[in-house]
Formats: sequence, structure tokens, C-alpha cells
Amino acid sequence: MSNRPDVVRTSTADLYDAHVLKNYGRPALTLTRGSGSWVWDDQGGKYLDFTSGIAVSALGHCHPHWVASVQRQAGELIHVSNLFRNPNQGELARRLVGYAGPGRVFFCNSGAEANEGLLKLARLHGATKAGGQEGVCYKVICAKGAFHGRTFGGMSATPQEKIQKGFRPLVPGFAFGEINDLASFEALIDDQTAAIFIETIQGESGVTPATTEFLLGLRVLCNKHNLLLMLDEVQCGVGRTGKFYAFEHAGVRPDAIGMAKGLGGGFPIGAIWIGEKAAELFQPGMHGTTFGGTPLACAAALAVLDVIERDKLLDAVTRQSPAWHAALKQLAVDFPAQVADVRGRGYLVGVQLTSDPAPFAAALREAGLLVPLSGNNVFRLLPSLTATTAELARSVEIIRGVLTSRAGG
Ligand SMILES: Cc1ncc(COP(=O)(O)O)c(C=O)c1O
Repeated sequence: MSNRPDVVRTSTADLYDAHVLKNYGRPALTLTRGSGSWVWDDQGGKYLDFTSGIAVSALGHCHPHWVASVQRQAGELIHVSNLFRNPNQGELARRLVGYAGPGRVFFCNSGAEANEGLLKLARLHGATKAGGQEGVCYKVICAKGAFHGRTFGGMSATPQEKIQKGFRPLVPGFAFGEINDLASFEALIDDQTAAIFIETIQGESGVTPATTEFLLGLRVLCNKHNLLLMLDEVQCGVGRTGKFYAFEHAGVRPDAIGMAKGLGGGFPIGAIWIGEKAAELFQPGMHGTTFGGTPLACAAALAVLDVIERDKLLDAVTRQSPAWHAALKQLAVDFPAQVADVRGRGYLVGVQLTSDPAPFAAALREAGLLVPLSGNNVFRLLPSLTATTAELARSVEIIRGVLTSRAGG
């Protein structure tokens, strides 16, 4: 319901039915308030939120430091465009370069927009390889099962019928190897290839981490063939796996990174980091976006980084994950008829069921736990980085309860 007195009081469900585009299938749930790992609906129902806005609410809901930073900045300066500098953007770039290594950062507004920037980078690199000629070397090799966003570039890099159907023709120049099968990627490389672009952990098609051997192997291939290695860390980055970037676990060094989601802790912001040499490919006028890196968005992201660092949240994720994972994996042992697998890293976990996870997620919701679905019969668990051991344990308890009731126990 709106708080504005001039607005006719119609139920939120009616307003959605009448006026909101029907591009999402949603449960009948209207959320009105959040605090930490918990959200409340308009009926007073309370839920443990392990959706976290699909890996966005890195600090949980309404973290006091985040709220104070955003409120302060909103009263000082919100938006100036990229025609001018603002202090927060410079400082945020410095901090992100600190995590990724020498290079430069471009700010945008979403994961898809970050990935568009990476795909444009690949084109620039390809043109350089081809002696300045466009349209000769432009191929990007991605992975089957990938998800890179809903824009034309992102969608073209996402070889899934349910994403692409209805929107063809797509952007040309994409080829797809099997994730964790280096030979399948190598076989696709030719003179037209400019880059390899994968998620470090595939989030939307069932939670599939790229292995260390695979990532290191891709690095070797990219060096050998002068290709950019570009990693999509939109979902798995910004601390979700216990390292700031998920690729750090493998000790691999990418040439470019896309990030978003957790970076703003709920405020829309995306970014790309590009290593020193490739960063020079972007010259004035070649790329831009009106809202990228506003003082307000950057204040939100700086608040996320402040709390991650001050409260040592990467250590907390690393410390708390093993017991939580073990308890979740025990569910696969205790309920083999229902749970096929539990996998993932840190606070990006997929629970693979033996049947459609949608009714299961509905039962979890009834029992007070919100989770997002993924592909291949998987539902995900995406706690905020601030989740307590008690909250992690509670998630297992709720899942166990639903498994038990469905087993007829
Ligand atoms: C790995 C990955 N890349 C890109 C995107 C697209 O991000 P956005 O929805 O912010 O455009 C997502 C969103 O789920 C994602 O998980």
C-alpha cells in the first residue's frame, strides 16, 4: 500500500495485476520491511531471506552503516553525470582496483550492463589483433549453461532457449564450449576469436563452479592465442564465496571482470574492472552511461566495502561455510529420494532435488524460508554475508522439516 494520501488505496496484488508488465512469474507475496537476514510481508509474516534479492543484499536488509551512508550522501549530492568527477567514484575505483589488481574501473548500473562493457572490450581487443580492422576478429567463446543477462549481448552469450526464444536474430560471434572441459574451448579457438568469457560459478543453471584446473587452463589458452580472459562475477563476486572475487580461489588472473549485484548492497550499481593494458583500449567517447557511478550509488557500494572489511565478513563466510555445507550435504544423505546433490561455494549454494523445485520452494516459503530457483531442479541458498551461524542453522532446519513432511515422516 502506498503511504501517499492522494493515492487510491488498492491492494498491491491488484495494482500488479492491472499495471505491471507480466514478464515475471511470482508467488503471491508482498514484502514491506526488512532487517538483517529477515523480511516481513504485508500480512505480518516473517521470513528468513536466503534469496537476498538474488545475491544482492550483501549486508542483509537495512544495515545501519549502509543506511547512514546512503542517507548522508542523499542529503549532500546524488547525481552529477559522468561529465564531471565525483569523489566517491574515484574512491570506489581505488578500492576495487585494490581487490582486483592494477587496472581501471568503469561504473554502470546492472550486471547485464557490466557484461555489455566486457563484450565491447572484446571487440576492441579483436580489432587491435586484426591490425585495426573491425569485423574480422570478434568471436567470444562462452560456456553452455551460462547466464550473462537479458540485453542483446548478454542474451547472445547465454545459450538457453528460454532466454533467447522470441528475440532472434541475436548478436553474431558467440561460440559455446562445455564448462570445465578445456578441450571443448580449445577446439573453438580460431583466428576470429577475441576473448573467452565465463562465469566463475554458473549461478542460474544449477550452480556449477568452474574448477581451478579449468580456469588456469583457460588462462594458458588465452595467453597462447592472445585472447582476453573475461570473468562474469556478477553473482559470485563481492565476497559471496569468502574471497572478494570467486576466481581468487583458483589463483587465476583475468584480464577483465564484470560485477554488480552485491556491490551496492541493494542500490543498483555495476562495474567492470579491466587490467592495465586492455584498459587503454577505451578512449574518450567510446563508452558511457548516464547513471554510472553516481555519488549516491558509490556511497552505497563504499558502505558495503566498509562493512565487509571492518567486520571481516570474508573470514566469517569462510569460517561458517563448512559446517553449514556439511549440514546441507547431510540432507542429501538422509533424503536421497528427494535431494540429488548439494554444491557451491561459500554463500552461493545449490540444492539439487530429484524433482521440480518450484513446489518445494513454495513449501519452504510456507515454512518461513525464501529461496530463489535455479536451473536443473536446483534451488539456491544465498544468505547475506552478515548471516549468523544461528540463521544458517535455521535454514537447514526448515529445509529438513519440509523434506521430512514430504517424505511422509
Ligand atoms: C552471472 C550473471 N551475470 C549477469 C547477470 C545479469 O545481471 P542483471 O540482472 O543485474 O542485469 C546475472 C543476473 O542474475 C548473473 O547472475
